[in-house]
Amino acid sequence: LKAKYLAAIATAADETALEDVRVAALGKKGEISALMSGLGKMEPDARKAAGALLNALRDEIDAALRARKSGLADAALDARLKSEWLDVTLPARPRRTGTIHPVSQVMEELTAIFADMGFAVAEGPQVESDWYNFDALNIPPEHPARQEHDTFFMNRAAGDDRPPHVLRTHTSPVQIRAMTEQGAPIRVIAPGRVYRMDMDQTHTPMFHQVEGLCIDRDISMANLKWVLEEFCRAFFEVPSVELRFRASHFPFTEPSAEVDIRCSWEGGQLKIGTGDRWMEILGSGMVHPKVLKAAGVNPDEWQGFAFGMGIDRLAMLKYGIPDLRAFFESDLRWLRHYGFAA
Ligand code: PHE
Repeated sequence: LKAKYLAAIATAADETALEDVRVAALGKKGEISALMSGLGKMEPDARKAAGALLNALRDEIDAALRARKSGLADAALDARLKSEWLDVTLPARPRRTGTIHPVSQVMEELTAIFADMGFAVAEGPQVESDWYNFDALNIPPEHPARQEHDTFFMNRAAGDDRPPHVLRTHTSPVQIRAMTEQGAPIRVIAPGRVYRMDMDQTHTPMFHQVEGLCIDRDISMANLKWVLEEFCRAFFEVPSVELRFRASHFPFTEPSAEVDIRCSWEGGQLKIGTGDRWMEILGSGMVHPKVLKAAGVNPDEWQGFAFGMGIDRLAMLKYGIPDLRAFFESDLRWLRHYGFAA
């Protein structure tokens, strides 16, 4: 009996098999347990001798079971440690991280540059009433500038009596909102999205502008010129820039000027600051008295300048990117090529 069980214990492959052996030998209905309950019917002397033998047998088998059990547990642990082994010295797999989009980056840069000159940031909605987008900026309904803006109009169901709305065609309506809210004096920029029905290599239906507005008691075009030169020097990171003011026309400024920056274009390389070319970068002028009035600012007391600049254009110039449309296609290969994504 002893040899039979010790052999079974030694060959039990795992803890379940071992438990079966234990039940067969020492369980309630086990072989050895049965023998022990038979002791009661024996003569006292025979019982004493057999009892001692059975007790010793039981203890020996019990000890063998325990030893085998802890041996099996150790082996299982060893196997697990082997299979789940981890080399913590392996180099980590490279991980791709997100980066800031060039347009967002340029917006952050220019916001910081203008902040140094005392300009706060103002905001307005992208879905704008046509009063803010046009009328208040001295563009009445019959004005030809309305057609030139290639406007997206918001659809209105029959019977909808809300004022007509458009996708703002420029950031200039933020001039009106900022002056109405804060009055004068005021010094703000308003970066944001604008929309026009236009699509080619240098135009997308959505693009970004930054508006500038500076109103005080004796602000002049000279202040405008200095602010723009300071901005361009800082933004393009060149020691000096030359700007050219060309007389122009905007309904909301008088006088008005379009501003070009001196640059060169050699061997496919654009250089800002020197050269024999001029590139248009913005529209500007002295805020029209009618515009001040529409925003509740007294034109007999206050005056100042405004300008509007294309942000995407600035980003293209700064990073030498030829096609504007690629900015908004979210093509990772393109973004990586220009170093805008990891
Ligand atoms: N809003 C004009 C445009 O979109 C730019 C501009 C802004 C011109 C402010 C003058 C003053 O073209």
